[in-house]
Amino acid sequence: MKLADRVNKIQPSPTLSIDAKAKALKAQGIDVVGFGAGEPDFDTPANIKEAGKKAIDAGFTKYMPVGGADDLKDAIIAKMKRDHGLEYTRDEISVACGAKHTLYNISQALIQEGDEVIIPGPYWVSYPDQIVLAGGTPVFIMTDESTGFKITAEQLEKAITPRTVYVILNSPCNPTGSTYTKDELKALAAVLLKHPHVYVVSDDIYEKLLYDGLEFCNIPMACPELKDRTIIVNGVSKAYSMTGWRIGYACGPKALMAAMTKMQSQSTSNATSIAQKASVEALNGPQEPVAEMVKEFEKRRTYIVDRLNAIPGVTCFKSTGAFYAFPNFSGVYGKTTPAGKKIENSSDFAAYLLEDAKVALVPGIAFGDDRYARLSYATSLETIKKGLDRIEEAIGNLK
Ligand SMILES: Cc1ncc(COP(=O)(O)O)c(C=O)c1O
Repeated sequence: MKLADRVNKIQPSPTLSIDAKAKALKAQGIDVVGFGAGEPDFDTPANIKEAGKKAIDAGFTKYMPVGGADDLKDAIIAKMKRDHGLEYTRDEISVACGAKHTLYNISQALIQEGDEVIIPGPYWVSYPDQIVLAGGTPVFIMTDESTGFKITAEQLEKAITPRTVYVILNSPCNPTGSTYTKDELKALAAVLLKHPHVYVVSDDIYEKLLYDGLEFCNIPMACPELKDRTIIVNGVSKAYSMTGWRIGYACGPKALMAAMTKMQSQSTSNATSIAQKASVEALNGPQEPVAEMVKEFEKRRTYIVDRLNAIPGVTCFKSTGAFYAFPNFSGVYGKTTPAGKKIENSSDFAAYLLEDAKVALVPGIAFGDDRYARLSYATSLETIKKGLDRIEEAIGNLK
């Protein structure tokens, strides 16, 4: 069968495939420790599930406005005002089937063939492929532990060209767990103010998952002058353990929201009606379950980072948000496994851990840097401990 060229230009999501591999091994009865998951291990809070059930019983089971129901848009408007002090109207909001779909709609609505999009790296796996699918060119600004995995104003200035359409900022970040402060964002904003053709896509999906008492900040909060040039992307997946419900949204310029809704009217139509009702409850209802989850994640973050740093040859940045540790394993590259295979890169290392130690993690190459691997700590402390014992032993067995 002859498939369209665009299919061959992109890769399947590596994080989803690692997770699927680990789940398949588990289904065969193999005791695999999975660090691949990109979703909280907590259940969706009961009040939210109840709202979904009520929506079914009340007959919210039909087509809805493509860009989102008014009550969900109003809940998003209230959330943006309450949490960030940012004001939006209904026509500045577009609801889609997850933040991933929202980002896809943005790329399809904004990018012309040959346009550039700046992506700080290590980056979330879907950003580059979505941009390539839209005919654009990803321009990476790579970072490492030395700047806390954050881009500097100088790096941003250098990366901007007349073809730059937007820059993606993701704080807290998947995969590094790093978080920008208000002052750091102000420094980036000063550069962006000099380049009025550049938009900012602020992927705030991990906004609630912050540790060490840090306060969330995004570009329009740091620099209100940039609000008209910012598209905020968020959703209910991570904060409310609702990854399967598939609700994400964007807040930004009216013309863009209308364009995204137009594109969506010819693809998915509205996001699921029942999930929209549940999301209204997530945003308007009690927020205590989020605080509980954050407390647990912070405990795990501290444990996993400390354990990784104690392994010879491994260093791990102390992440401040999301639920990922992003250790540097390059100190073990060049060593040989008990089966006689040399570990040359993050893929070799991940394969060795899966085969020999029955531990699944995502090789750093998937996020743009081969020195690292990503471990999700969205799993119990007991499982994390078991997995780290295995990693420690497997590294100890390398010669
Ligand atoms: C940085 C980032 N943005 C967006 C998403 C997409 O979230 P969803 O489509 O579940 O709302 C994810 C999910 O892993 C993510 O890590």
